[in-house]
Amino acid sequence: MRAIQIDAYGDASQLQLKEDAPIPLCGDEDLLVSLVAAGVNPVDWKMRSGAMAQMLNKPFPITLGWDGAGVVIAVGRKVTQFKAGDEVFFYAEFARGGCYAQFVAVAASQAARKPSSLTFATAAAMPTPCQAAWTALIEIAQLQAGQQVLIHGGAGAVGSAAIQLARWRGAEVSTTATAAGLDWVRSLGAQTVIDYREQKFQEQVREMDVVLDTLGGATQEASWATLKRGGLLISTTEPPSQERAASLGLQARFVFTQGRGEVLQSLADLAGSGQLRVQIGQEFALADAALAHRLGESGKAKGKMVLHIDPPHP
Ligand SMILES: NC(=O)c1ccc[n+]([C@@H]2O[C@H](COP(=O)([O-])OP(=O)(O)OC[C@H]3O[C@@H](n4cnc5c(N)ncnc54)[C@H](OP(=O)(O)O)[C@@H]3O)[C@@H](O)[C@H]2O)c1
Repeated sequence: MRAIQIDAYGDASQLQLKEDAPIPLCGDEDLLVSLVAAGVNPVDWKMRSGAMAQMLNKPFPITLGWDGAGVVIAVGRKVTQFKAGDEVFFYAEFARGGCYAQFVAVAASQAARKPSSLTFATAAAMPTPCQAAWTALIEIAQLQAGQQVLIHGGAGAVGSAAIQLARWRGAEVSTTATAAGLDWVRSLGAQTVIDYREQKFQEQVREMDVVLDTLGGATQEASWATLKRGGLLISTTEPPSQERAASLGLQARFVFTQGRGEVLQSLADLAGSGQLRVQIGQEFALADAALAHRLGESGKAKGKMVLHIDPPHP
């Protein structure tokens, strides 16, 4: 099969198109999926660069890509909830990955049915960022109606999903964005919109119940002061200091997204009914994955990047 693989860590030039990569084996609890689209996430270039090598000790060649959507072509003997022909989307287990390819084997427990109203590209754009937002706000924060939440990077993939989930829960949303992102986050329901190039967010909001940090560094550092006593700082990017949180009378958590089919199904239901929108930005052919990585690493990508994958020739 065709696949984009790396044989060594490094820059985007390491992404090589292979024509004869082996089709993955479909385990007893797996789906073998013919991929139609793969989502491109920041974790993909972090993995490619070697920044996550300690965490994920995988032998080369490595097929990148944790988010995908496609058509089931075979199911493992213990799988009862899916059958060949089902249209699915999924987050491939972190140690497994492999969605920059024509086929992927993914645990059935980490997949959900794609709503017919969603394109494969939109479905492939959802798993990692939308699950991260769900884990942070619905599961960790257990956000309630009327609570105040500050969401950093509201125009980004995690941030825009988080705004919509928070509004769905009835929370009051403040968010940071700039330029065209300002209108996008307002259209998603954010009530207080802070242009991060013009204003210091820590001077605009205070007494937050929850802050979702998608940036780390100075943004995380300045976020502590925006929380009310007992408030919760959640980061998707950099584990916040537990000592710091305790000394300030706050709570802090880090999100580690894991593929869970039941969460994806909840997200699919929201997306299928129009309550969760995803902004697709640039779309690339599988062979052009390196262009997608370069654009993503430049910080200039607008909207979610997706790779389109042609089926194999008969
Ligand atoms: N731990 C996990 O399980 C997990 C899961 C998903 C994602 N993540 C991590 O979460 C982070 C965000 O992911 P993503 O997919 O949402 O990335 P993304 O789509 O690239 O979004 C990043 C957003 O941050 C905005 N931004 C940049 N500088 C900013 C600033 N100073 N203040 C406010 N916003 C700013 C960007 O806005 P502009 O467009 O204006 O530049 C962009 O909209 C990444 O580090 C990713 O690796 C972790």
